[in-house]
Amino acid sequence: MWWAMRFDVVTLFPELIAPWLTQGVTRRAFAGPVEVRTWALRDFSDDPHRRIDDRPFGGGPGMVMLAEPLLRALGAVAADRGGDEAVPVVHFTPTGRRLDQALVREIATGPGAVLICGRYEGLDDRVVRTRVTLELSLGDYVLSGGELPALALLDAVARLQPGVLTAPSHEQDSFSDGLLEGPSWSRPESLLIDGVEHVVPDVLLSGHHGRIARWRRDQSLLLTARRRPDLIAAARGAGQLSADDERFLTTLGLY
Ligand SMILES: C[S@@+](CC[C@H](N)C(=O)[O-])C[C@H]1O[C@@H](n2cnc3c(N)ncnc32)[C@H](O)[C@@H]1O
Repeated sequence: MWWAMRFDVVTLFPELIAPWLTQGVTRRAFAGPVEVRTWALRDFSDDPHRRIDDRPFGGGPGMVMLAEPLLRALGAVAADRGGDEAVPVVHFTPTGRRLDQALVREIATGPGAVLICGRYEGLDDRVVRTRVTLELSLGDYVLSGGELPALALLDAVARLQPGVLTAPSHEQDSFSDGLLEGPSWSRPESLLIDGVEHVVPDVLLSGHHGRIARWRRDQSLLLTARRRPDLIAAARGAGQLSADDERFLTTLGLY
């Protein structure tokens, strides 16, 4: 086994993380090069009942994750990592920066990270201010804990590792070239659904690679223009649209 990067997950529920590491194509990455270690936060409580939460100062609903067990856990992680490695310390929170593919790519080529999974109403803010270097959100909705966001990041990083996908299909995935990926079809060529025949677009059966590539690019542009016009603007700004792309977009009458 060889490790190019290491992620340390600090969580109340290490048992939620472990099964993810042995299933699907990404298990190849988690057998090397992506090492994942979990740290059970309750092991760092000094309370006889292993409590790691308490009521918020100032009142209000819910509980807050105590600073001291978290600081001890993060200290143990840092010591285990050798102490001097400057890896991001990530706190998952709905108030953080939205995770996107550009950031996934950046993390996927780095040394790894420490991932803090919040629960309850979140962390005592002193931990965030003194230890966290990156706050990440999965989106504008509220989950019960940071384990799913941690797994989402680990999965997205793992599938970018060389040799994890048999073909480098992530190169055509949505966001890899700044656009959404268009639709796909497989056998049979013709299918009756609720009495209506649905056929695969002719061009995909033509065997003409140049035409197929252009058609796929147009489908990708069409979907992106309809659903995420902000991505079209960003791709244009980044010089990622060719003259043929611009011609196609003009025919849509949207630009
Ligand atoms: C119930 S949430 C706490 C929400 C917090 N009180 C708020 O309103 O921002 C519990 C934990 O789930 C995680 N979480 C919930 N939604 C998330 C999201 N959209 N992105 C990342 N983490 C999230 C965070 O770690 C958070 O500390």
